Amino acid sequence: MRGARILGTGRALPPRVVTNTDLTKLMDTTEEWIVQRTGVRERRFVDPGTGSSDLGAEAARAAVSRAGISLSDIDFLVFATLTPDYFFPGGGVFVQEMLGLPTVGALDVRTQCTGFLYGLSVAEAYVKGGFFDHVLVIGSEVQSTGLDMSTAGRDVSVIFGDGAGAVVVGPAEEGRGILSSHLHAEGKYARELMCEAPSSLEHPRISHEMLSAGRHLPRMNGRYVFTHAVRRFPEVIREALAANGVSMADLSLVIPHQANLRITQAVANALGVPGEKVYSNVERYGNTTAASIPIALDECVEQGRIREGDLVCLAAFGSGFTWASTLIRW
Ligand code: UT7
Repeated sequence: MRGARILGTGRALPPRVVTNTDLTKLMDTTEEWIVQRTGVRERRFVDPGTGSSDLGAEAARAAVSRAGISLSDIDFLVFATLTPDYFFPGGGVFVQEMLGLPTVGALDVRTQCTGFLYGLSVAEAYVKGGFFDHVLVIGSEVQSTGLDMSTAGRDVSVIFGDGAGAVVVGPAEEGRGILSSHLHAEGKYARELMCEAPSSLEHPRISHEMLSAGRHLPRMNGRYVFTHAVRRFPEVIREALAANGVSMADLSLVIPHQANLRITQAVANALGVPGEKVYSNVERYGNTTAASIPIALDECVEQGRIREGDLVCLAAFGSGFTWASTLIRW
């Protein structure tokens, strides 16, 4: 079987920077609390009219250009988001239209913070199996339009931001590129981090009462999520290493989902790797859910932090609960 590798990466961040000080004008919070508890200093918010499909298309164009191919070479796209433009259809088809991709398939992935890695595993399988030669994988989020910016929602709202990242996956010789993907879920914890409405369980699925009760806003049992995250990240990274017969010392870089700087530091400690081997940009963008890993990956490539032959591990944990890792020989 042939291999599959990442041929190009791209990202799109809205230009509007929202600082912690900006948030203190909307809710009862402080710069100190946000920085100490999360590491976030600023995040990007879109202006009205920009959706996750717009950001996704922009990131995808950059990734295709970096891959040195043209859009007409793309055979399939996978779009991961928890913030689609509409309840249906999923955002993938809007990205497909914006990119002018004639009738190629567009698959939406709804696994929240792990959406990009789940999507990457789909591309990996399609390319390794010979079904497609070039698959776009996009993670994109517009969180800012769905946050509770009052004091009641401050624990959730201060961590999230908007953005998109994308990669093109194409063929490689066996043993090079994406070595393996490891995907997990535990639905019994789904209600610990969720957004309830609109809900098909309700008649109608959205109502004034639901809006008044704030059921359309995300809610999170933060400490609970935190506890599970710091256990699952190291576990799934070790799983990837063991599956490929390599050790922690062989790893050049870990790119975790950017949830909270304290989680990233706890993961580095648990793995016993120096902090500089675990990438972080949460201070600049906050938590961009499905977009956080491809944005970080694109920055690492741009900064020359990943070189040919490097062993890189991507890992994510989030709502569902879902968690995943991908091991790559760059
Ligand atoms: O990406 C998806 C996965 N998500 C995550 O991985 C997030 C995981 N969880 C976390 O990152 C953290 O739990 C949070 C950053 C969300 C919260 O931090 P925490 O240290 O767990 O704080 P907490 O929720 O236990 O709240 C501690 C205190 C509370 O006050 P009292 O009850 O001790 O008086 C909160 O009301 O901090 C208060 N608080 C705030 N204070 C100022 C909560 N949010 C804020 C805020 N500003 N924004």
